Amino acid sequence: MQVHTGIVRTDPNSWIGCLTYQSRAVSRPSESELEQLVAKARRRNRSLGVTGMLLYENGRFLQTLEGPPDGLRKVWASIRADERHRDIEVLTEHMVSSRLFSDWDLLLYSHEENKSRRHRPSDLAPHALAHYVPGMAQLALDGDDTRINARLASIAEQGWSADDIVSHLIEPVARAMGDAWLTDRCSEFDLTVGLSMLQLAGHAVRTYAGAANLRRSRYSVLLATAPGEPHMLGTALLADQFTDAGWQVEMAFPGSKEALANQIAGQGHDAVDIALSDALPRQRALAKLRETVEASRKASPGHLVVVSVGGRMFAEATASAASVGADHARRCVAGTSVRLAQLIRQGRTLQ
Ligand SMILES: Cc1cc2nc3c(=O)[nH]c(=O)nc-3n(C[C@H](O)[C@H](O)[C@H](O)COP(=O)(O)O)c2cc1C
Repeated sequence: MQVHTGIVRTDPNSWIGCLTYQSRAVSRPSESELEQLVAKARRRNRSLGVTGMLLYENGRFLQTLEGPPDGLRKVWASIRADERHRDIEVLTEHMVSSRLFSDWDLLLYSHEENKSRRHRPSDLAPHALAHYVPGMAQLALDGDDTRINARLASIAEQGWSADDIVSHLIEPVARAMGDAWLTDRCSEFDLTVGLSMLQLAGHAVRTYAGAANLRRSRYSVLLATAPGEPHMLGTALLADQFTDAGWQVEMAFPGSKEALANQIAGQGHDAVDIALSDALPRQRALAKLRETVEASRKASPGHLVVVSVGGRMFAEATASAASVGADHARRCVAGTSVRLAQLIRQGRTLQ
């Protein structure tokens, strides 16, 4: 595996390999074929210490795999030789210090394109980094990991902080890519590839920009995607930020509000963040999100959990925390750990 030293932060002995590729299915798998493939893959991944995510959509696969180099190499050799897919293209190969999918032998997303809701393109006030947004969005949609990282490294060298780059570049790029999809300039698959590029870029940027590594919090947070939400950029960016701030971080990619409630029950998290897509507005998901927030609160009745929500609609203020019954809605990823710590402290003072 190729090593990009720029994104490595900790003890080299605990590095794990992380590989993302895309490919085309030779013939469209039925739901049960897909389930069978994933069930077998999960067993094998578990035995080799490999975790990851597989997205199937309209004849295309996108997969991220993470694990010890030996196990990863074995799985990758099988996948490359598998005749059920072709046009296999590696998008990224990295050594990383922590897993994103630590609880998932293989998380499966499979969904059909659904573009019934239109949305006006973003009109947020421009920032000094705004002129990088269109070019960066194109690089992300093209899966051009090398040039994204080179550009981010040079922006960080100009003195921008990790929080600035995340708030004023990475998050707007996610929305620009969402606009590209909404106006038919890319497929949803390309959008998902682009978001996974940004996820890695967001991780890398904390190294380039020398993010503060002050381990001082004793709070714990569960960072979850909204049930069924395949876009996980915000959750991944938050994981880096909360980890840097010393929080105990757990991640969840639940399939239902009940699954999320089960994960919350008995764990004693101080806060939970539930994220919709950063790229696309999900108006129709709001009612469900409200139910998820309610179920999350009920799941730990004895413990006061601060519930935060995020996603493009909250960033653009087309939805509010109150509209889904949450305590906090993120306008951007930056500062979320500080704000949630304040809310936890306030809640405890009021009790
Ligand atoms: C898109 C796709 C993704 C796959 N992902 C995995 C995986 O994550 N882990 C795994 O063990 N097998 C995976 N497989 C199946 C492997 O390609 C292979 O069939 C299986 O590991 C058995 O390997 P073997 O034939 O070398 O024994 C995947 C297959 C496809 C088509």
